[in-house]
Amino acid sequence: MIRSVVQGCGSYLPERVVTNEELSRTVDTTDEWIRQRSGICQRHIAAEGEFTSHLAIKASQRALDHAGLNASDLDLIVLATATPDQTFPATATRVQAALGMTKGAAFDVQAVCAGFVYGVSVADSLIKSGLASTALVIGAETFSRILDWDDRGTCVLFGDGAGAIVLRGEQGAGTPADRGILANALHSDGRHHDLLYVDGGPSSTRTTGFLRMEGKEVFKHAVVNMATVVGEVLEKAGLEAKDVDWLVPHQANKRIIDGTGRKLGLPPERVVVTVDKHANTSAASIPLALDVAVKDGRIKKGDLLLLEGIGGGLSWGASLVRW
Ligand code: COA
Repeated sequence: MIRSVVQGCGSYLPERVVTNEELSRTVDTTDEWIRQRSGICQRHIAAEGEFTSHLAIKASQRALDHAGLNASDLDLIVLATATPDQTFPATATRVQAALGMTKGAAFDVQAVCAGFVYGVSVADSLIKSGLASTALVIGAETFSRILDWDDRGTCVLFGDGAGAIVLRGEQGAGTPADRGILANALHSDGRHHDLLYVDGGPSSTRTTGFLRMEGKEVFKHAVVNMATVVGEVLEKAGLEAKDVDWLVPHQANKRIIDGTGRKLGLPPERVVVTVDKHANTSAASIPLALDVAVKDGRIKKGDLLLLEGIGGGLSWGASLVRW
């Protein structure tokens, strides 16, 4: 059977780092409050004129280099983002042109903070169906552009960045020991729209709008849904929590990450945490965390990785990957 096998990964963060301390000079907040409630110490913020596509292009080039592949090898780009350069065309097509990829298809996926897991699932399905053979899956965001910097309950929690992986279809025996994407699970429940959304859009207000969030309610849903979906994806693959080498969660809040790790019975040293340095970069957070742990040598070929994320919609999902 065909498996979508990870060939390489890459990431990119804007140069400018904004610490909690710096933020507290313009927002009514403190370093202590932000650290205690979220685990965040700093975030990267895109420069004026630096767009989501620019971050995505840099992360993608690094992923291709790491994979030892060229843009001409790709026949699919799936870019997960809630902060596209423009309403249309898809930001993925800008990345496609900049990389010099001329065949196949490039499009965006919008599932906010669950976007990367959605993107991986879509690319995996297209590879397995034979519609694509080599895919770039990107998570890239400039959330700083949709934050209400007067709303201290949200603006301290997010940052900008991009991460990418390259997937290629390879024949495998179809066992959990094979490298590649082993299982995916996706969910959404639109009844919870009002918990996390942007109060603008081309069809409703003709403005971009700002992020709005009921933080406490999102927290409760996140803890429950993450615990359920990681169990679901393990069951699909016929594996157990004890088989997982690395939990690579969406980096929204250290307390949510700790809760999921505890439910799985994973020791903290088996959980990749970057929320302290990157804050919540939405669809970019999982591939950013992945890239950090691969490049520092923690994640090795053959390790079993559990990726999971939840965001506005509500939308959530998980992927189990033999790296
Ligand atoms: N600095 C200082 N005080 C702040 C603050 C800030 N940046 N933001 C809010 N507060 C204050 C509130 O005004 C409130 O004050 P009050 O008690 O005087 O009214 C107090 O802190 C508690 O606020 P609350 O919203 O109840 O805090 P919380 O413990 O729920 O923590 C979050 C807030 C947002 C950190 C937390 O709910 C959370 O992480 N939720 C999940 C959010 C998330 O992950 N979203 C993304 C999913 S993809």
